[in-house]
Amino acid sequence: MTNRIVSGIQPTGRMHLGNWMGAVSNWVSLQSTHQPVLFVANLHALTGAPQLAEDMRYTTRQLVYDLLSCGIDPNRSILFCQSDVPAHSELHLILSMVTPIPWLERVPSYKDKRDALGEEWNHYGFLGYPVLQAADILLYHPTGVPVGKDQLPHLELTREIARRFNHRYGPILCEPVDMVTETPVLPGLDGRKMSKSYQNTIPITATQSEVETLVKRMVTDPNRVRKTDCGTPEQCPVFAYHQQFSTPEACQDVAHACRTASIGCVACKTQCAAALNRYLHPIRERAHTVTNQTIDEVLAAGRIQANQLASYTMDKVKQVIGFS
Ligand code: TRP
Ligand code: SF4
Repeated sequence: MTNRIVSGIQPTGRMHLGNWMGAVSNWVSLQSTHQPVLFVANLHALTGAPQLAEDMRYTTRQLVYDLLSCGIDPNRSILFCQSDVPAHSELHLILSMVTPIPWLERVPSYKDKRDALGEEWNHYGFLGYPVLQAADILLYHPTGVPVGKDQLPHLELTREIARRFNHRYGPILCEPVDMVTETPVLPGLDGRKMSKSYQNTIPITATQSEVETLVKRMVTDPNRVRKTDCGTPEQCPVFAYHQQFSTPEACQDVAHACRTASIGCVACKTQCAAALNRYLHPIRERAHTVTNQTIDEVLAAGRIQANQLASYTMDKVKQVIGFS
């Protein structure tokens, strides 16, 4: 298969709108032109805050449920769990031997988190996070890797690791090309980037009333203190949502009404929640059709398909190293 793409997502909680806008929506549309290889990155999730085994099991299945609800179609995509394909761990270890430590110490996600979290978190696997990601990608020889912008340093490193491996052992691994999602970053409820660690997310499978409650909690233009103050929509996260989910006409109306103080934030948010609920409707409808049995079947089939593809690369890798 020549048109393969690879991407992964960590099981750290319910999938949220930021994941959807930043990556998953792109995966869904790429299904018509490419063969996506998509996985639940549970090994990567071990580098974050520790989860109880039962929580890990639950978040993994929840993520598959969310992905299927979003329109990932197991007949067109290979959807599996990273730890079900031991080749990810195996190639990670082998690639770690061609990855200089200073390369890893320079990766922004590592530097930021190390400084934020302190020594206790600074473990070996955390430093090696991008090497595992390189293994995830290089195993499947994708033509592209659809990710959010924040992942670009990881892809650059993946290419460097591939180059170094190939330089030493011969041309086995393909340097992947990034396919960045161009949608603007959707702010979270507090106006910062939407992220699980900020607890400012809207789950993609939130119910109508959950969406209403969450949107009510959103921060607005900080300079619009009273209803009679004129607002600046460009400074308001609620307006950023209108731009994504409301019609262009509704957007114009809201922007004008906000600037002239002829709409209050409460009414504006009610409209915003309604638009978001309309947008999420097809996802909710699909979610009703996903059962526990579906999840079992998808993971079982994905495991077989992914192991098959991965073993092809591992055979070649082991050959050039001299392991077989
Ligand atoms: N690091 C990615 C993220 O946090 C998840 C991920 C793991 C990934 N392995 C990958 C993405 C391989 C693309 C390809 O979003
Ligand atoms: Fe934001 Fe809407 Fe309030 Fe304007 S009216 S500040 S866009 S919530």
